[in-house]
Amino acid sequence: MARKRIVVFASGRGSNAEAIYEASRNGTVNGDVVMVFSDRSQAAVLRKAASWGVPAFAADPGGFSSRKAYDEALLRAVLPYRPDLICLAGYMRICGAELVQAFPGRIMNIHPALLPSFRGLHAQRQAVEAGVKVAGCTVHFVGTGLDDGPIITQTAVPVFDDDTEESLSERILQEEHPAYVRAVKAFCEDRLRIEGHCVHGLHGKGAGL
Ligand code: GRF
Repeated sequence: MARKRIVVFASGRGSNAEAIYEASRNGTVNGDVVMVFSDRSQAAVLRKAASWGVPAFAADPGGFSSRKAYDEALLRAVLPYRPDLICLAGYMRICGAELVQAFPGRIMNIHPALLPSFRGLHAQRQAVEAGVKVAGCTVHFVGTGLDDGPIITQTAVPVFDDDTEESLSERILQEEHPAYVRAVKAFCEDRLRIEGHCVHGLHGKGAGL
């Protein structure tokens, strides 16, 4: 099976990007990170990509007249890398419909909550404030709405009485990395099937995690 070509979009420190990169390098994932893109020119993830020898690009949305114009430029930058899979890893922008439709079933995102609860920003703070006792992370295919799209895998973590947004974020982050790698690994082995709003192939009995 041919190795998949993975492009990562990230806005910040890039720990999920790093987990995916490491998994590709150590053979866990049948794919290679071929390009990293950021909407923030100072993002730490760009320095990480440089240290991996992976091409990295940044484009500031402020320089574009609309989201559509920005996404079109982004598409032009990404297409030459022929991605099989785009991984949003702490990418703090919504992908417009054209971008999503250019890669149907081929854009993944990680969200630090058990979707469909706590969509949007500050998901961990939302969880603490709501007083839930179980939080977690979700890897899902990207749809055109906010943090929607078919769910690939989720991991739950407990919420403790004295948790803050920071302590809960840290506990969830520890689970984000293996969850994202699990989803990317399954994709790169052609194991995921999207049927309606459901993804099959990763959580079936005997599928193995
Ligand atoms: C993660 O918590 C991710 O779930 C959220 O943003 C954070 C990014 O962290 N969307 P990192 O840049 O991958 O370290």
